[in-house]
Amino acid sequence: MLYNNLTINEKGHLAIGGIDATELAAEYGTPLYVLDEDVIRKNCRTYVDAMHEIFGEDSTPLFASKALCFKGIYPIVESEGMCVDVVSPGEIYTALAAGLPASKMFFHGTNKTDEDIEYGVKSGVGYFVVDNLNELAALDRVCAEAGIKQKVLLRLTCGLDPHTLEAINTGRVDSQFGVPIDTGQADDFVRAAFACENIQVDGFHSHVGSQIFESDSFNRQVEILVAFAAKCRDEFSFTTRVLNIGGGFGVRYTEADPLLNIPERIREIKTHLETSCDKYGLDFPTLYMEPGRSIVADAGVTLYTAGGIKEVKGYRNYVTVDGGMTDNPRYALYKAQYTILNASRASEATDFECTIAGRCCESGDRIAEDIKIAEPKRGDIIAVLTTGAYNYSMASNYNRVPRPAMIMVSGGKARLVVKRESYEDMLRNEV
Ligand SMILES: Cc1ncc(COP(=O)(O)O)c(C=O)c1O
Repeated sequence: MLYNNLTINEKGHLAIGGIDATELAAEYGTPLYVLDEDVIRKNCRTYVDAMHEIFGEDSTPLFASKALCFKGIYPIVESEGMCVDVVSPGEIYTALAAGLPASKMFFHGTNKTDEDIEYGVKSGVGYFVVDNLNELAALDRVCAEAGIKQKVLLRLTCGLDPHTLEAINTGRVDSQFGVPIDTGQADDFVRAAFACENIQVDGFHSHVGSQIFESDSFNRQVEILVAFAAKCRDEFSFTTRVLNIGGGFGVRYTEADPLLNIPERIREIKTHLETSCDKYGLDFPTLYMEPGRSIVADAGVTLYTAGGIKEVKGYRNYVTVDGGMTDNPRYALYKAQYTILNASRASEATDFECTIAGRCCESGDRIAEDIKIAEPKRGDIIAVLTTGAYNYSMASNYNRVPRPAMIMVSGGKARLVVKRESYEDMLRNEV
């Protein structure tokens, strides 16, 4: 099995954290997001322990809320010693509702409206990660009115092009995120920030992209950031106290993806950082990282019920399930690959070639094409692995399909953490 929290029980069913997936489906209905809390906690600890050991106690991983945002995630990541990255007032609101102190939040976003900025300042977020010059001016004004000095990091792009999917490749010069170093515009950005009376610049942020396995981009990124920090010291007598190098480590969706050794990768980044700091005579900064996918992706499994099973003669077999692009748009967006199995027949031969399609009136509504699973019967439970990240958080109501319920398993027990949406829920804002 792809992960060791997934097993096949004596009935030949898939078990998640020791619990029979078909029983979970029977009790909570499908589609169903299943999260394994023990896996999330283990992933948090991997980052926290490695960052403390390698960079020192002040260096912390921030959980990227965009990967999975609901109230129940915040007490888990906080109790494991993480802070969080939030990208909208909605994520701030959710984290506050869960009891997370605003001081542990880093507020991102390419277009923070004046209202968003006021909300972040009023809430008392720890850091703003400022994306552009316009935001900087608006933030300075809001802080003046509020009578506070806000800590910020300035978001820069390092001009790197990691090998990943186009839509999640964010660190190139030609990108809507942050301000590029290569074009010289970052110089104007920092100059403007240092001149703001109500803003305290502590350092810089950069994110190279997502689902990245190669180490080169991360290593180059710290070299570029340190060189820029040295330039800021020389030109503005500025001391860079903090570097936030974003998220992005890849996870295993299929057997073809490698399993990253995260502490080893972090150590490699440290080596490059140290060498660069030595080269420029810079003090070692506090380091932040923003993992999202690698904290929650492998903790998630989505369960569906197989409905239509049909052969289009001369072409292929289709298995349609009771969810699809509404609960997981990643195949439709990026042709993202998944490992899929028939949870009701997990010990049978996987010799039935088929395409798994969703229930929407959209030919792009697919979860996987031309894969092999044990031949399903109507009513079998189909499990899609590695769906903990960017599934629930990207879900929609297209075709008026209610969002699924989400449950958390831990220590052999399951609990409901997000109720299934009802038809009334979908009407609640309609006047
Ligand atoms: C600024 C920023 N930080 C962190 C992340 C999380 O990345 P990942 O989920 O790949 O770790 C993203 C995702 O794109 C991001 O844009």
